Amino acid sequence: MCGIVGYIGKRNTQNVLIEGLKKLEYRGYDSAGIAVFTDKGLEIAKAKGRLANLETKLENTPLIGSVGIGHTRWATHGKPSDVNSHPHTDDSHKFSVVHNGIIENYLELKEELIAEGHTFVSETDTEVISHLIAREYEGDIVKAVQKAISHMRGAYALGVLTEYEPNKLVAVRQASPLIIGVGEDENFIGSDIPAILEYTRNVYILNDGEMAVLTQDAVELMTIEGNFISREMIRVDWDAATAEKGGFEHFMLKEIHEQPKAYRDTMRGRIDASGKHVVLPELKLNSEQIKNIRNVQIVACGTAYHAGLVGRSVIEQLVKIPVETDVASEYRYRSPIITPETLVIVVSQSGETTDTLAALREAQSHGAHVLAITNVVGSSIARDADDVITTLAGPEIAVASTKAYTSQLIAFYLLGLYLAEVRGTQTPEQIAHIIAAMQALPEQVEKMLSQADAIKDFAEQISKHEDLFFIGRGLDYAVAQEGSLKLKEISYIHSEAYPAGELKHGTLALIEDEIPVIALATQESVLEKTVSNIKEVKARGAEVMAITFEEHVAGLLKSVDQAFAIITHIVP
Ligand code: F6R
Repeated sequence: MCGIVGYIGKRNTQNVLIEGLKKLEYRGYDSAGIAVFTDKGLEIAKAKGRLANLETKLENTPLIGSVGIGHTRWATHGKPSDVNSHPHTDDSHKFSVVHNGIIENYLELKEELIAEGHTFVSETDTEVISHLIAREYEGDIVKAVQKAISHMRGAYALGVLTEYEPNKLVAVRQASPLIIGVGEDENFIGSDIPAILEYTRNVYILNDGEMAVLTQDAVELMTIEGNFISREMIRVDWDAATAEKGGFEHFMLKEIHEQPKAYRDTMRGRIDASGKHVVLPELKLNSEQIKNIRNVQIVACGTAYHAGLVGRSVIEQLVKIPVETDVASEYRYRSPIITPETLVIVVSQSGETTDTLAALREAQSHGAHVLAITNVVGSSIARDADDVITTLAGPEIAVASTKAYTSQLIAFYLLGLYLAEVRGTQTPEQIAHIIAAMQALPEQVEKMLSQADAIKDFAEQISKHEDLFFIGRGLDYAVAQEGSLKLKEISYIHSEAYPAGELKHGTLALIEDEIPVIALATQESVLEKTVSNIKEVKARGAEVMAITFEEHVAGLLKSVDQAFAIITHIVP
């Protein structure tokens, strides 16, 4: 996730861009840059780090002009650095591009362009776009952009400028958000409404496959094939703070709702066109090394550790290798048996957690290959690990991890399937079946999220209690542990997650009248057993809420007080 902004009009363009980017920093903040058409031509300023670094740079050498584009980055291809920051340009420096999204086929396009004589300076996928547009330019920037994107696969919101047509700003949307702000003698583009709200409340929302051509006094909307479209303008009446949270009450809620997009982005380019194979071109671990893995150790903290508990089950079942999961702060003190045939997987959203970093070093000191699953390209863990799978969840602003956790689960499934194919532990049909289930997931989660009101009612009932239990078996128990952590962290309600079959060995004593128990019952293989554990707590007076599949809701309602349906399951 990155933020883009663009302006054409009579104001101080640099200020409009910087102020817009400040409102988009929640979308990415590891580097920033702007391009402005000045009296010297297209001039670009970029800086690694927070936007303040770019502002400092611009204090000494401001870019004065009436059209410009800006970008705040959350790295996906190439570490955060000045050179990898946007805007990107071509060999002639006559074209400039800002991009939010991922170009899936950028490596093949890059090779093609290099063979044609283009020179690349960055590690990004975006630079390919500026070279493509330059190659296709024959005097009409709109046509050049249309031709360029016809070669691209993936997700992109773009802002494009060329020195040849300095009175035009071209914007494109394909699977990444983009809005157009309409002012008087000035027009804007932005990844999100807050970027432009200070200047105008009149907005067009672009749909996928659409583009816009902005001049100072007009906005033309068209499809990427060039067919003009007319669209009603929207009048935004949100205040700036609400707009920044996309209309949600707070960032945590916004990020919960961003999960479907985070899954799509994390899977993008990692499942081949046939839908039958996982491809992880970023992995250095070769087939020989994969075949030699004797055991796996997953090490992480907090929520990432809980993702690791699911990861253990996924890898054991798909790859048939023994897996242990460790809390990072304990790992190095238990003298784990690590050999060069051990694959150590460290999981960290931030990539900066000290205990996880220490575990990584401990594992490397014993010769293990360390693979990191992290959400932050260029973080300490990403830099030090031997291999990295990046979750493309975008920055998590809320303190409590939500979309990063579920994206980590997607990463574990991708990794598990990839290892299973190399080691031949699953049939091609089994692999294709799970891939299909994963691809259906974003839409199913969208449906799940539409039940938010019913869940809110349930939350209101339990908010009056001081203690709560989560119970489940297998994967349900792993997820229960994350649910319990989230409840404690966010609601300050004491809760415990228990393997459903373990309660009877003592803890059942704490189950008394009306104590809420959330029972996860999504594992077919242990459903009956979970139901008998539910009966045990019901017999002691608990109020039980079950989470299960649609087809089991009616049956479970005979034993529980409430039941919520989840739409599907991925069976390893
Ligand atoms: C809980 C939460 C924490 C983190 C933990 C590890 O909502 O966010 O438990 O998961 O501090 O952080 P990372 O993943 O950044 O290493």
